[in-house]
Amino acid sequence: MDALTQKIRERFIELFNSEPQLVRSPGRINLIGEHTDYNDGFVMPAAINKEIVFAIGPSDSSDSKIYALDFDQHISVDLQNISKVNKPGWANYLLGVLFQIHQHGHTVKPFNCVFGGNIPTGSGLSSSAALECGFGFALNELFNFNIPRLTLVTMAQWAEHNYVGVKCGIMDQYASVMGKEDNVILLDCRSLKHRYAPIDLSEHIIILCDTKVKHALVDSEYNTRRAECEEGVRILKKHYPEIQSLRDVPLEAVEKHRNELKGKVFDRCFYVVSEIQRVQAATRDLEAGNLTAFGKKMYETHKGLSELYQVSCKELDFLVDEAKKTGKVLGARMMGGGFGGCTINILLEDDADEVIETLTKAYKEKFNIDMPAYRVKIKDGTSVLSTASVSK
Ligand code: GLA
Repeated sequence: MDALTQKIRERFIELFNSEPQLVRSPGRINLIGEHTDYNDGFVMPAAINKEIVFAIGPSDSSDSKIYALDFDQHISVDLQNISKVNKPGWANYLLGVLFQIHQHGHTVKPFNCVFGGNIPTGSGLSSSAALECGFGFALNELFNFNIPRLTLVTMAQWAEHNYVGVKCGIMDQYASVMGKEDNVILLDCRSLKHRYAPIDLSEHIIILCDTKVKHALVDSEYNTRRAECEEGVRILKKHYPEIQSLRDVPLEAVEKHRNELKGKVFDRCFYVVSEIQRVQAATRDLEAGNLTAFGKKMYETHKGLSELYQVSCKELDFLVDEAKKTGKVLGARMMGGGFGGCTINILLEDDADEVIETLTKAYKEKFNIDMPAYRVKIKDGTSVLSTASVSK
């Protein structure tokens, strides 16, 4: 058992005096396909070796307690009245999921839960999806509700929309729950069907460079982008009544109606439609083993996110520019919602130490911030940590 799991389990035993069930819920990366999920497009995420671990068990009292180890905070939940709270910040992710489980007709009996993890928050690695999905998964295991994985995914997304207030797409929750070791998920966000593609990086690795910044307004800007895309669809629908989302729109149609797509709406639509096409082309690159062509597309994505979609920031732009300047990084781009968090980089493993050192130094000089770099391993999605693996 790894140190994190051990710590969570021990704390549970200390607090509740019984052996818990253990669930692992990972964060995610996304190789390409950013801000395409809520436009019914394609994405290419994968679950990673950073996770939240949950320990859960039934409670003898009428109370349910959830303890967040990393914050040393706990809440008591009234299962008869699962409403939003003002604080602590992490609670609504869980309460939203609990509410959904009730809404689906399942009876949650009193329980105790301890959780904690190593996914840096605000870094674009979807610690919030890991939190929502892992909790839903743990309750599902504890009470044998038999809720299918895909339903857990949509329940978690519902919690984020309605209890947290971010109108996120489906990618993060989907990746956290459905991930498969050494594979990327080729997800069609319209049909919610996926296939796995083994990722053969040969001598390359994926490195995340963490800006350590999270600019204010991230959530409201995210919702604004979504609304701008919907506005684009509304306008284009006048000419093409059959379209449902930007997924259905060819680039020529966006260009043709440029004058009607006022303000920033043209740029937003142009980026999204190009990105949806780019993911499809990048999938072919990946399957052909052409990492050079794949990497080039990552740089193109970044340019679009920065200049047209305007969800980057100076710290992310700097790290992508510097990565490119080394001449050793096949592809780099901001990852996730934006306005901070990490860049994702593909490079030769042999060059990794040198590139990380160069970027860390340049970033420190420019922003006076220490830049953590994470070497990513692609892992399975949410899973039960069997009690058999609980060696004492
Ligand atoms: C956040 C959202 C996702 C997705 C990305 C951008 O991570 O939660 O649904 O929209 O931003 O690709």
